[in-house]
Formats: sequence, structure tokens, C-alpha cells
Amino acid sequence: MEQDILKVLISEQELKAKVEELGKRISEDYRDKNLLMISILKGSVVFMADLMRAINIHARIDFMSVSSYGAGTKTSGIVKIIKDLDLPLAGYDLLIVEDILDSGLTLSYISELLQSRNPKSIRICTLLDKPERRKAQVHADYFGFRVPDEFVVGYGLDYDEKYRNLPYVGVLKPEVYNG
Ligand code: XMP
Ligand code: MG
Repeated sequence: MEQDILKVLISEQELKAKVEELGKRISEDYRDKNLLMISILKGSVVFMADLMRAINIHARIDFMSVSSYGAGTKTSGIVKIIKDLDLPLAGYDLLIVEDILDSGLTLSYISELLQSRNPKSIRICTLLDKPERRKAQVHADYFGFRVPDEFVVGYGLDYDEKYRNLPYVGVLKPEVYNG
């Protein structure tokens, strides 16, 4: 697995420090709120698991799984719900937890959908932000790291469902894609 990685972009130590910092900020910002963290499967599970333990106020959690319609690797912006949330959202201050904000089409769709269920508030926390590729106007209230326009894997992010279990974020060797 590790031999497929061209370079480490964000080390395990850097991830740990950033997650602690985000957890502190979120704990302060949501002290008088009713926090419900929503993890978008599967990419955000590793980040979610670490982030929730860096939060020291009451935090409920829920999960949603979506897939993007349409052929090819590009996000179409039309999203199909594979697994919906268990909890009704009224009365909650939602924090959507994502692995990466790329075109923004997925998150913009999910935010609008969740908004229609009348939560008290919605904010977005993404570990990685790739601003160069933005198509939809989505603002991340919390983000960990800006990344260049390269395909990244590890710490939850996959290529062909692999590499999610790498403890760091890295860039794949081109020959892995090109066979
Ligand atoms: P959009 O473009 O709608 O899509 O913001 C975000 C989703 O696309 C996936 N994505 C990636 N996954 N490495 C990955 O493993 C990447 O570099 C990458 N860029 C986008 C990801 O699932 C994210 O939720
Ligand atoms: Mg994802």
C-alpha cells in the first residue's frame, strides 16, 4: 500500500494537531448550542472519529451516505441518498463533517436538503479544501488544510475504495491510475 504513495502531503502529527485545534474552536462555538455532527460517508469517518473526541461538549452524531449521479469521475451535483439520517433535525445546530470540499456541488446539494428540514443552524467543517476546483458557492465555516489540485488519498479518502486506512494524507503515484 505505502509503495503506491508518491509523497506525504499532511503527516499524522499535522492532522492530529489540526483536529485538536478544530475541536477546541467547535467546543467553544457550540457551548450554548445543540450540536449534531453529521458525517458524510464514507470519506469523513476517520476525521469524524478523531474530531468528535476532540470536542468536550455534548455532541450527537448521525451519518448520511450519498452518491453522485452520472457517468465519469466528475461530480454532477445531482446527488442520490443511499442512507439518510436517523434523527429529525428540528432544534439542532448541525455541523456537516466532510473529508474534502472540491467542486462544492455535493455539499451545496446536501446543505440545501438539510436546510429544508428546519434545523436551528447549519455549518460545514471540512478537513481538506481544494478551492481551485470550486463550481458551487459553498463556504466552509471550519477547514483543516487547503490542498492543491491533486488527487489525494488516506485518512478516510480513497482511490477505488483503497487507501482509506493510511494514517496520513498523500498523493498517489501516477502509475497507480494509469495501470
Ligand atoms: P465535490 O466535487 O462535490 O465532491 O465537492 C466532493 C467529493 O468528491 C470526492 N473527492 C475526492 N476524493 N480524493 C478523494 O479521495 C480527492 O482528491 C477528491 N476530490 C474530491 C470526495 O468523496 C468528496 O466528498
Ligand atoms: Mg466524500
